[in-house]
Amino acid sequence: MRRLLIVSNRLPVTVEKRKGDLRLQVSVGGLATGLGSLYKSYNSVWIGWPGIAWEEVKGKERDIETKLMSEFNCYPVQLSRRDIERYYHGFSNNTVWPLFHYFAQYAVYDKNFWEAYVHVNNLFSKAILDIAKEDDIIWIHDYHLMLLPKLIRERLPDATIGFFNHIPFPSYEVTRTLPWREEILEGLLGADVIGFHTYDYTRHFLSSVHRLLGYEHSLGQIDGGERVIRVDAFPMGIDCERFSKATSDPQVKRETKKILKKIGGNKVILSVDRLDYTKGIPQRLEVFNAFLHRNPQYREKVVCILVAVPSRTNVEHYRLLKKEVDELVGRINGRFGTIDWTPVQYLYRSLPFHALISLYSIADVCVVTPLRDGMNLIAKEYIATRTDGSGVLILSEMAGAAAELGEAISVSPTNMEEMVDALEKALTMSDGEQIERMRPMQKRIQRYNVMRWSEDFMDKLISTKSIQKDMRAKILTPEVKRRLVSDYLGAERRLLLLDYDGTLNPFFKRPEDARPGDELLRLLERLAEDPKNEVVLISGRDKDTLDEWFGGLRLSFVAEHGVWIKEKEWEMIEPLTNDWKGEIQPILELCVDRTPGSFIEEKEFSIVWHYRKANPELGTIRARELVSELVSLTSNLNLQVLEGSKVVEVKNIGINKGRAALGWIGKEEWDFIMAIGDDSTDEDMFDVLPETAYSIKVGLAPSLARFNLESPRGVILLLRELT
Ligand code: UDP
Ligand code: G6P
Repeated sequence: MRRLLIVSNRLPVTVEKRKGDLRLQVSVGGLATGLGSLYKSYNSVWIGWPGIAWEEVKGKERDIETKLMSEFNCYPVQLSRRDIERYYHGFSNNTVWPLFHYFAQYAVYDKNFWEAYVHVNNLFSKAILDIAKEDDIIWIHDYHLMLLPKLIRERLPDATIGFFNHIPFPSYEVTRTLPWREEILEGLLGADVIGFHTYDYTRHFLSSVHRLLGYEHSLGQIDGGERVIRVDAFPMGIDCERFSKATSDPQVKRETKKILKKIGGNKVILSVDRLDYTKGIPQRLEVFNAFLHRNPQYREKVVCILVAVPSRTNVEHYRLLKKEVDELVGRINGRFGTIDWTPVQYLYRSLPFHALISLYSIADVCVVTPLRDGMNLIAKEYIATRTDGSGVLILSEMAGAAAELGEAISVSPTNMEEMVDALEKALTMSDGEQIERMRPMQKRIQRYNVMRWSEDFMDKLISTKSIQKDMRAKILTPEVKRRLVSDYLGAERRLLLLDYDGTLNPFFKRPEDARPGDELLRLLERLAEDPKNEVVLISGRDKDTLDEWFGGLRLSFVAEHGVWIKEKEWEMIEPLTNDWKGEIQPILELCVDRTPGSFIEEKEFSIVWHYRKANPELGTIRARELVSELVSLTSNLNLQVLEGSKVVEVKNIGINKGRAALGWIGKEEWDFIMAIGDDSTDEDMFDVLPETAYSIKVGLAPSLARFNLESPRGVILLLRELT
């Protein structure tokens, strides 16, 4: 079995210092609890922060390290007080956490925080590199470590790296407000698979990658230049069996009996969260307040047990929240409480597993109403514990879990009225309806439990690696390159068909900026001077531009994707008309008006709509619309619509690079043919080549070409070797 390295900021055990003694405590929070049961079933090591500043364990470093490793398979990353302050409280919890939960007004943008974040991600990288072996699967978790995939990739280019984000990924509009957004996205793209809890987070991430970094994707697969990267939704599950079985544990039974006795005949509304402003705790208390006000008949008949687990108490907003919740609880209890009845029973602490299960099993209603939550495991744990099918879950539509738990009473966490109604509905729901809602949810979470979730993720990771391998198999290896060069040197008559944009030169926002540099011109000159060579520049550009840029060289040309051919003089491939332009032009013009940044290029026998400078998402949508509109129109006009790299071109039917290339191929008995191109218009050229020809696609997308090169730089290096 391959070893799994789980990497997260927080280890599943936290080191605590009490009265000078160091103790190990089970960590809380969805990530640690969710992965807690999973990592035991893999051959795994967990790398992370043990929850204490390393200065605090002075003198006991070895003890702690040994204990963590031998008892828990945990490898501690040593963070100083300063690291914790700036990286954990700072960038992670004062910048990313609020921003990604749409609390932009709480987000602090501090360069020192960012630098600490970079520093600590590097510390994690070193810790991993210390122990990683070639065959390990490295699975990184959560928002504290978004730079880590890239840092590891730089050192271990072939490593298998997964990343899972446990919190929401916000829309592009929010992501773009982060000054270091590009670095973070690039950091994440170091992984092979990037997972989120829901489809919406996936969509937001892909859109940010597209708009901020320009990487295209198709069905969740990003073409990252050198590798494909898979992005997908994997809704995290829980260890269902552990929760359902726990209800018959004698300790849980004893505890349950004790609590039931204390609360008498009261109905129980349960609320459990870390004390976090994203969880909507004050709002929930206000709802309970309004509920008691509106329903006097429930007074002294219902209690709300509010468990708030202390969290991130060094961050100011958490301290303010604590104060707010304390006051609200006091207000409600003061207003409605009696000598015999306390409406809100408030526990500000973390509960051990058996106590939590007891609360789940006695709760008639569980209220999970976060303002935003990546997933929320409390909702799933409550469901798993209700073995007899009774109980009602009220669930915020803003929790990731809402996508899977459709039978819960769904509420908007900011709609007080709706939430009060939901409480009333929950407390009066018949046993039959409770079971009817509970059973399908239980089935679902039993099926897609935490094991299935992780297996699903691992399967995607392995299959992505194998796609990468298939693509790499086509990459022009040094060995094939040597063969190519030797065939070239041994040949007497050679035909070189070279596309220009995206092949010999990278793309520029403005096409006119792609003018060839001196180095490239000299290289082409040297190739063309060799009497054994016929070098053809086979481009979509118009003939005037080709003349202006390359006129002095002894090259042959194909312009406008095959309309014009030049050996000595420009000639049209066949007599063509362009009187159709008047009909097509207004459609393209409308498209320009509706797509800022796009423009029209007019060539003699074609018209092109360019959208490289437009908003990439809008550009892609408009291109689809334009193509579908043009296709029906052009079929009557004997025209064709061609989609290239960020362009849509309309031209006469039957004109393409393949036809032009065939003309040259048939001219002589070539003993060496090589064709290089990058976009879909070059596929026509690859399609007509004889089997023995060397055909090379620039970029890693699927192609008819026999080989791939990663970038125009690779093409230049290859051509240099030929000269
Ligand atoms: N939890 C716990 N003790 C407590 C309260 C909660 O161990 O006193 C656990 C709970 O079982 C759950 C996790 O903390 O697994 C909370 O996860 P959730 O996804 O709901 O929220 P998060 O804390 O990750 O934001
Ligand atoms: C959320 C995050 C986890 C984090 C947990 C507890 O679930 O996604 O990464 O561990 O909250 O927060 P803490 O800051 O105590 O680790």
